[in-house]
Amino acid sequence: MSMLVEMGSVVENNILSDDVRAMVIQAPRVAAQAEPGQFVMVKNESGSTFLRRPFGVADVDREQGRLLLIYRVAGKGTRELAGLEPTMEISVEGPLGGGFRFGEVSGGAYSGKEDGRTLLIGGGVGVAPLIYTARYLAEREPENKPLFLLGVRSAEELFWQDYLKEFTEEIIVTTNDGSAGKKGFAIDALPDILAAHDIRHIKICGPTIMMEGLAKLAMERGIECQVSLEKRMACGIGVCLGCTFEGKVSGKRWKICHDGPVFPAEEVFEK
Ligand SMILES: Cc1cc2nc3c(=O)[nH]c(=O)nc-3n(C[C@H](O)[C@H](O)[C@H](O)COP(=O)(O)OP(=O)(O)OC[C@H]3O[C@@H](n4cnc5c(N)ncnc54)[C@H](O)[C@@H]3O)c2cc1C
Ligand code: FES
Repeated sequence: MSMLVEMGSVVENNILSDDVRAMVIQAPRVAAQAEPGQFVMVKNESGSTFLRRPFGVADVDREQGRLLLIYRVAGKGTRELAGLEPTMEISVEGPLGGGFRFGEVSGGAYSGKEDGRTLLIGGGVGVAPLIYTARYLAEREPENKPLFLLGVRSAEELFWQDYLKEFTEEIIVTTNDGSAGKKGFAIDALPDILAAHDIRHIKICGPTIMMEGLAKLAMERGIECQVSLEKRMACGIGVCLGCTFEGKVSGKRWKICHDGPVFPAEEVFEK
C-alpha cells in the first residue's frame, strides 16, 4: 500500500450540527487504498493555510471512488474546509499511518476477522474513523456486528447514529448533559456493557483523557484493546518528529503519524 497525493473534488459538504460537517470527496485513488483507522491530510489549495490538516477516513465508497470525512470546525483550516462547495478542488494526501488491526493470529500477523465480539468506543469527532471500522467488521461477519459506545456532548450529536446503525448490533449512548442515553461519560457506561456482553476486543478513538480511563478498564479485564491517537501534525509522514511519544512497554519512540495513529493500549497507557 502506498501513500499518494491526489487532487480530489468536493461532492458534498453537509452540515450535521452547529460545528460538525460531513464532506464527501471524489478521490478514487486514495479511496481504493484507505483502510479502517487510517487518515488523510487535506488542503484547500486556494485557501490560506500552509499546512495540511489530518482527518480520519470516516468511510470509503470504492465503487464510486469517494471518501467521507466528518470534521469539527475548530479553527482556521477547518473553517476554510467548511466553506468549500461541490465541484471545488481539494488536495488529499494519503492514506496515511496504520489502521486498526483485526484478528491477530500470532506475532503481528492478522486474519482480518476478530474472534468474539468487538466493542467500538467513539468520543466526539473520534467517532468518525469508527464508522468505516464498524462497516468493515459488519461486512466480514454480519452475524457478529460490533457493539458501539457513543460518548457525545448532547442529543444534538446523535447524528452519528445514522451512520452507524446499519453496521452495529447495538448503540449505547452517553451524553455529558443527560439529554439522551445515560448521563455522563463513556467510562460510566462501560462496566455495565462488559457485564452484559462477552467483549473480546475494544477499539477506541476520542480525546486522550477519555481513552485513558476506558483503556485502563479494558486492560484490567484482560480485553485486547487498541486506541487511535491524535496529536497536532505538521508533516504527517514521519519526518518532522512533531508527533512522537515513548511506548510504555517497548520504550520505543513512536511517531503517531507513521507508526500509528492506532496502537495497542498497553503501549500508550500505564496499566
Ligand atoms: C490522525 C488524526 C485524525 C484526525 N481526525 C479528525 C476527524 O476525523 N475529524 C475531526 O474533526 N478532527 C480530526 N482531527 C483533528 C483535526 O486535524 C484538527 O481539528 C484540525 O487540524 C484543526 O485545524 P484548524 O486549522 O481548523 O484548527 P487550528 O487553528 O489549527 O486549531 C484550532 C484548535 O484545534 C486544536 N487542534 C488542532 N489540531 C488538533 C489535533 N490534531 N488534535 C486535537 N486538537 C487539535 C488546536 O489546539 C486549537 O485549539 C484529527 C487529527 C489527527 C492527528
Ligand atoms: S507529524 Fe511529522 S513526524 Fe508525525
